[in-house]
Amino acid sequence: MNDTPLARAAAVFQAAFGQPPTIRVQAPGRVNLIGEHTDYNDGLVLPCAIDYRTVIVARPRADRRVRVAAADYDGAIDDYALDAPIERLAEPMWANYVRGVVRELLQRGLPVQGMDLAISGDVPQGAGLSSSASLSVAVCRLFATLPGFEALGPVDMALVAQAAENDFVGCKCGNMDQISSACGVQDHVLKIDCRSLAVEPVPMPPGAAIMIFHSHVSRGLVDSEYNTRRAQCEAAARHFGLPALRDLDLATLEARAAELDPTVLRRARHVVTENARVAAAAQALAAGDLARMGELMEASHASMRDDFEITVPAIDQLVEIVKAAIGAAGGVRMTGGGFGGCVVALVPRELVEAAGAAVQQAYTAPNGQRASVYVCRAAAGAGLVDA
Ligand code: GLA
Repeated sequence: MNDTPLARAAAVFQAAFGQPPTIRVQAPGRVNLIGEHTDYNDGLVLPCAIDYRTVIVARPRADRRVRVAAADYDGAIDDYALDAPIERLAEPMWANYVRGVVRELLQRGLPVQGMDLAISGDVPQGAGLSSSASLSVAVCRLFATLPGFEALGPVDMALVAQAAENDFVGCKCGNMDQISSACGVQDHVLKIDCRSLAVEPVPMPPGAAIMIFHSHVSRGLVDSEYNTRRAQCEAAARHFGLPALRDLDLATLEARAAELDPTVLRRARHVVTENARVAAAAQALAAGDLARMGELMEASHASMRDDFEITVPAIDQLVEIVKAAIGAAGGVRMTGGGFGGCVVALVPRELVEAAGAAVQQAYTAPNGQRASVYVCRAAAGAGLVDA
């Protein structure tokens, strides 16, 4: 059986709606190599889209109705009209990601039409690899195939998807995940300036592999802790009379450290030093210098652990296991919002097997699970899929 997301979505579409789809789109998940919690501080990030994605197959309707079938949730269907107010549902949550984007597109005055769609995906959920951003961006990309959406470019789609998550779903995330999913370039990481929204693709060194290790530590605290970190960063920027921590330099922070609450000081120091590390990492990567990337990723992890305090012991242990396996030849750090989720490593290809074996042998999550290991390729962003 051909059990790809595309095949699953197509089968569920046919079963639910009795005819084949006419449009196929995809949007990828993402992994962040460096630059954590800098996006909502107007800073720099260095993620890439990954070759795990959400796929939507669809067929425009002649009327103003939207029907959505979730192939990965037993074909459950959400059905609503475009001309009545689109409400947020208590559940299922997946439906809100679609509803939020549809509502956002309507609010922007775009000519949304009725549509039947079926969704499937292979981005691991709850792992911090942006399965939800990939869904929101895929929905945007789908409607962008309609007449009247020509002016909606990839960055605009990302902003629509982010607005839907912020205002409709209720998650105050920054813009990194959606921009990565919308703007990915195959075999490149993206240096994103989250203030100017400039996206600069940096080629992946040919001999390097991206490895992702899912710790299977649930990211339970992530929402409340995320919002607390965000508030602390905003408080620090306000203290210095700046629009965002992007505008603070380390010398000023150190000179005026005594003015800040010690926790807020550490949060600000993470963001200021992390922005500098992203700029240095983009240069190191462009030069193919994996050893320098390794130093920067190690410093980033230490900063997340000690200053931003978003790692957990199992994640720190996973990072140490990978570091011991790859030595100075590559880099490893926690990736994503924190409190569990995944570790990312940039590894010379010849060490991929050793790194995977070391983790399989030495890591067990507190719930008894082994880590899941993914070897990824930096992927293209949202787009049409050939049948
Ligand atoms: C989550 C958010 C992003 C970003 C990261 C931390 O993934 O969705 O916007 O803030 O956390 O870097």
